Amino acid sequence: MKLWSGMLSGDLDKFAEEFNSSIKIDQRLVFDDIKGSIAHVKMLKKTKILAADEADQIIDGLHTIGQKLIDEKLTIDLTSEDIHTFVEASLIEEIGDLGKKMHTARSRNDQVTTDLKLNLRDESEEIVDLLKKYINALCEQAKKNTQTIMPGYTHLQAAQPVTFAHHLMAYAMMGLRDLDRLKDFQKRINESPLGACALAGTTYPIDREFTASELGFESIMQNSMDAVSDRDYILELQSVLSIIAIHLSRLSEELIIWSSQPYHFLKIDDKFSTGSSIMPQKKNPDMAELIRSKSAKLIGNMNQSFVMMKGLPLAYSKDMQEDKESIFDSIDTIKISLEVMTGQISTLTANKEKMLKACKNGFLNATDVADYLVNKGVSFRDAHHISARLVKYGMENDKSLDEIDLEIYKKESDLFETDIYEEIDIIKCVNKRTSLGGPAKDEVERQINFVLDKIS
Ligand code: ARG
Repeated sequence: MKLWSGMLSGDLDKFAEEFNSSIKIDQRLVFDDIKGSIAHVKMLKKTKILAADEADQIIDGLHTIGQKLIDEKLTIDLTSEDIHTFVEASLIEEIGDLGKKMHTARSRNDQVTTDLKLNLRDESEEIVDLLKKYINALCEQAKKNTQTIMPGYTHLQAAQPVTFAHHLMAYAMMGLRDLDRLKDFQKRINESPLGACALAGTTYPIDREFTASELGFESIMQNSMDAVSDRDYILELQSVLSIIAIHLSRLSEELIIWSSQPYHFLKIDDKFSTGSSIMPQKKNPDMAELIRSKSAKLIGNMNQSFVMMKGLPLAYSKDMQEDKESIFDSIDTIKISLEVMTGQISTLTANKEKMLKACKNGFLNATDVADYLVNKGVSFRDAHHISARLVKYGMENDKSLDEIDLEIYKKESDLFETDIYEEIDIIKCVNKRTSLGGPAKDEVERQINFVLDKIS
């Protein structure tokens, strides 16, 4: 029997029944629903809306249902309309008709958004922990590579030398912002909608502050229509998770490029690689590729949530039942992506020789040639031209800047002396970039400590 069957005649059409049911998706809210219901009934007792002994029996019944589910003595009936219906029906089964009093001064409209908020608050805390582990893995790998010189790129063209640690720490900084966004989300989700009822509050003398504090909410939503129709928190979480997914996807792309043959900058551990069914030599970065593609799922889910909410009138509409599948999928996807990425980062090995060798070919120290002249009083614009001509000479004669004879340098400017070779030494080029945020060893070590401090 449906909760609402009093006024309607007959059964739902078979397909309509299946179409209407959300239990397969919202069953994962079961413990949140029980928790929310216990808080609600405690409030009914406190305000004397229910007699104390009745409320106690209902609360005991709810605890029993929770325990039976844990002990697998009760399984969720997937023919129920939704999780709220299932819990209420199970309660009535457990304690008899008294269970029918639980829903006094409440509606599924405030109930469902309360459950969802409780659930997403917990999930976001788990994601915070996973993010911290991922950021920590980046820092630990960076610690091992503060002197691992590699080309830094712009336009994917070799630009200036950096270190592998410097590059990894860029991702750690993105992770810190992601953490910050999650914390911000956690602040706003933490307002209780419970007691808004269907949309217009209630005539019963409820105590919304009491249920809010029972459920660990920091405050209560101030307008009952807003309380039942707000899904901003889903849109926010979808956005935050999509940004995390994009960061992981960018890092994946780099792992894929860096582990490919022309680069050979790093080796992804075999635990995170697969072979080919036909080509014996192949070692494929499947995990990185999958993380890269999972970001599409998150962005798709985010899009679904936004489009679903766009243009919905106040207050509750059944459209909102469709808020769960996509946010649960985004949560599950980002959790496993973070786990896999953390493992990959912790176990990869940098090929220091290859990275250094790649710095020799790309004229990465051309800026340093210009800076050398600037230090001798030449304007940067003129120095840039002189350096560019030397690069052109190097390209035409297949020589790197440190292989070009001093006499060629002197033809371009008589300010060049033998110390130019020392100035354009690739390792020196990195370690003299001591400006805040730069790649010099001490500076990157400062960045690592900065991040470790933030996540501790
Ligand atoms: N299963 C519904 C949902 O997820 C619960 C709320 C139902 N409310 C209603 N007025 N039909 O949105």
